[in-house]
Amino acid sequence: MNQELSIVILAAGKGSRMKSPKAKVLHTISGKPMLYHSIKASLKLTDDVIVIVAHQKDAVIESMQAEFDNITFVTQDTENFPGTGGAVMGIDPRYEKVLVLNGDMPLITADELSGFVESNSDIVMSIFNLEDPSGYGRVVIDKHGVQRIVEQKDATPEELSITYVNAGIYSFKSEVLKKYIPLLSNDNAQSEYYLTDVIALAKADGINIEPLEVDEEHFKGVNSKIDLASAEEIMQERIRNKWMAEGVVMQLPRTIYIEVSVQFEGECLLENGVRVCGNSKIINSHIKAHSVVEDSVMDNSDVGPMGHLRPLSNLKDTHIGNFVEVKKSTLDGVKAGHLSYIGDAEVGSGSNIGAGVITCNYDGKKKYKTIIGKNVFVGSDTQIIAPCTIEDDVMVAAGTTLTSDYVKSGVLILSRAKIKTVENFFYKFFTKEKSC
Ligand code: UD1
Ligand code: CA
Repeated sequence: MNQELSIVILAAGKGSRMKSPKAKVLHTISGKPMLYHSIKASLKLTDDVIVIVAHQKDAVIESMQAEFDNITFVTQDTENFPGTGGAVMGIDPRYEKVLVLNGDMPLITADELSGFVESNSDIVMSIFNLEDPSGYGRVVIDKHGVQRIVEQKDATPEELSITYVNAGIYSFKSEVLKKYIPLLSNDNAQSEYYLTDVIALAKADGINIEPLEVDEEHFKGVNSKIDLASAEEIMQERIRNKWMAEGVVMQLPRTIYIEVSVQFEGECLLENGVRVCGNSKIINSHIKAHSVVEDSVMDNSDVGPMGHLRPLSNLKDTHIGNFVEVKKSTLDGVKAGHLSYIGDAEVGSGSNIGAGVITCNYDGKKKYKTIIGKNVFVGSDTQIIAPCTIEDDVMVAAGTTLTSDYVKSGVLILSRAKIKTVENFFYKFFTKEKSC
């Protein structure tokens, strides 16, 4: 924690280049809103994190309050003071130094941010040199150092050819920032108050501005859905590398998607095409090719190929085979090898769920539970009409439509339509001769 530092995150903009009804900072990277990632990194450095909001303010505040409880929100007057300069007008940082970052930089880490804090300069600004600088503000640097930042829309053709760009993070001595904010004007192509104009104003007063060269991998701004996809790839590679370093085995890792809040423990194996989401916890387990695990726990279990654990599934010592979907169910020592739906259920150890078994948990209005005890053999193609409790040591015959609410221990239960054979029907129906 650096008690000298406040962090301001700009998250009030519309993000029109995203072409979306959703606020830009709420678009997700690896399962969490973009803004979540920059707040998370900021809270590692300070307890004074100020988030500037305006566009879809309520949705942004609600979503961040669900994750963090120690953030200050400040509303920007976007009507009268639009732009990144307008965004910082209402701030009251607690500490001597203030780090300002754009809310659309989800790849930033606390380590990278701390580079700005170590310097003693009045202003430190982030720059990178890009082959294709389009979209970014260009940084005019001469032999006397950084002169100013010119936004793409205001740049002359000569300025447009500059490849040094403003990455969008600045650290200011708080008093320096407070001095220049009131001097910003909106006399530019977008009629906005640009925070970036502080640089030219400060330079004119001889204030020391230190450029800090950073890399695009951490400082990339997300403005479009193409940027969102490439930021996602970078974040995924980080998440996968972190878990492989912790001992998770991944086959064809680039085909695997793991969200940021997933946890692994022990020896886990993920085959190609696996997707693990939400608050899943995977312990000593094997997730086979093209399976999806959402908000679920797997302990000493295997799923797939092409298995689906939907939220709140809890598996222990369990085998789930191909095309099996499990939802909000607890399975302890169970085998369900093929083509089943197990929803709102509890299944005890030694039980076997045959191919094509369905827990019919929904009557069109409400959901009901299925409770299956230990050592129950549920034959293939059985439909269990919930609510239903099956005690231990029961055999349900294949093809049964189980309408009983309660099945007691030790029985065979079955429902079968009587089978009927109609001699020579095939030949008459198709008017064919018998082949032999
Ligand atoms: C900004 C910089 C540009 C830099 C780029 C780096 C300015 C004027 N330009 O451009 O020099 O190269 O970032 O990524 O600062 N925001 C508000 N209120 C507003 C407008 C924006 O809070 O009125 C927030 C947005 O939500 C966003 C951030 O500020 O998180 C940056 O805004 P954006 O419109 O993306 O700026 P850029 O055009 O990318
Ligand atoms: Ca941006």
